[in-house]
Amino acid sequence: MVCLLFARKEKNQNLFSEKDYLMNNESLKFNKLIIFYFSGTGNAKKSSERIIENAEEKGIETELVNISNKTRIDKNTLFSKDTLLGFCYPTHGFNAPPLILKFLSSFPKGKSDIFVLNTRAGMKLYKLFLPGIGGLALWLPALMLFFKGYKPIGFRPVDMPSNWISLHPGLRKKVVDSIHKRWKRILGKFSNKILSGKKVFNGFFWLPIDIVLIPITILYYCIGRFFLAKTFYANYNCNMCGKCIRECSVGAIKKVSGRPYWKFSCESCMKCMNNCPQRAIETAHAFTFLLWWFIFSVLPFFITINLKNVKFFEPLFEIIHFRGVFDISSVLFGFISVFLAYHLLHYLLRFKFFNYIITKTSLTHYKFWRRYKAE
Ligand SMILES: Cc1cc2nc3c(=O)[nH]c(=O)nc-3n(C[C@H](O)[C@H](O)[C@H](O)COP(=O)(O)O)c2cc1C
Repeated sequence: MVCLLFARKEKNQNLFSEKDYLMNNESLKFNKLIIFYFSGTGNAKKSSERIIENAEEKGIETELVNISNKTRIDKNTLFSKDTLLGFCYPTHGFNAPPLILKFLSSFPKGKSDIFVLNTRAGMKLYKLFLPGIGGLALWLPALMLFFKGYKPIGFRPVDMPSNWISLHPGLRKKVVDSIHKRWKRILGKFSNKILSGKKVFNGFFWLPIDIVLIPITILYYCIGRFFLAKTFYANYNCNMCGKCIRECSVGAIKKVSGRPYWKFSCESCMKCMNNCPQRAIETAHAFTFLLWWFIFSVLPFFITINLKNVKFFEPLFEIIHFRGVFDISSVLFGFISVFLAYHLLHYLLRFKFFNYIITKTSLTHYKFWRRYKAE
């Protein structure tokens, strides 16, 4: 009777039914859970915390490790059958963020069970929940860990409110709340199963789309992310409080001539833009649009036309034709132009007039272009 009363009390505190709770406690497989996470705006962090919370309710010892901070890993736990390791992070450009891939490539070998969870850009259209697209974000880390000797017992993409504020306005509160409600239910189920050692492989449904997207994934990883890093700037409201510099997970923002400056190492995780107390961090939309038009059409066309008249390059034109030379010059000179143009942008921002023009032509400046942070 006392047990039943206890279980009833637990039921109210938990996400799960009384039956689930008892059943899952009976069949617990692990006595320790370690989750390694990276998060820009808090979605992956919130998901990790939720699983940790669930594990603690079940009496499992837990550890939550933010991989942006330098951490020492106790290698003994990596070989233990009683330990479950989790890896949780957002999806960036149909892939895991470079920070995660770097972390995993130097992660020690081991034999424990692991799970991988990527948060994607969830949206809602009227009453329809629209899922994000994970691409290689699950498969690549799972494979890397598998080749290091770990045993994947679960992977799952979870849809949370999209945080890609450079591309679209932050979602309305009502939409955010309903995506969160759905996420809670899905994550609760996943967490319950995985903690009792059951296998959960939920990403397979997406595999055909993920494979088709591989060329775009590679393009984003090799080129796109560097271009995106150079679209951020701080407008005239910036009071140089230094929060963005101090809190950047990859140390990609530095102070140049008294203003924040984004390096190529920026992961575009959106943490700085969504956390700025002055709402001063923007994406330079019009400036970027003009720059990209110049880099991807005017500049390579001009270079290719000129190279065509040089005898030395004739064999090159015979092999890869006009289009090939055009594409190569877009990429090669694109990087140089982006770097130079960003210096120009940074210089122009010093002048009130240019700062005003660049800011007024940034969509992120307007009120309707909301920010997003997982509360
Ligand atoms: C630069 C960037 C690229 C993104 N690429 C994708 C993507 O390819 N597919 C997707 O579903 N979501 C994508 N997103 C959305 C995030 O993965 C998603 O909102 C995630 O839940 C954010 O997690 P966080 O708050 O822990 O950073 C992207 C977001 C950013 C900022």
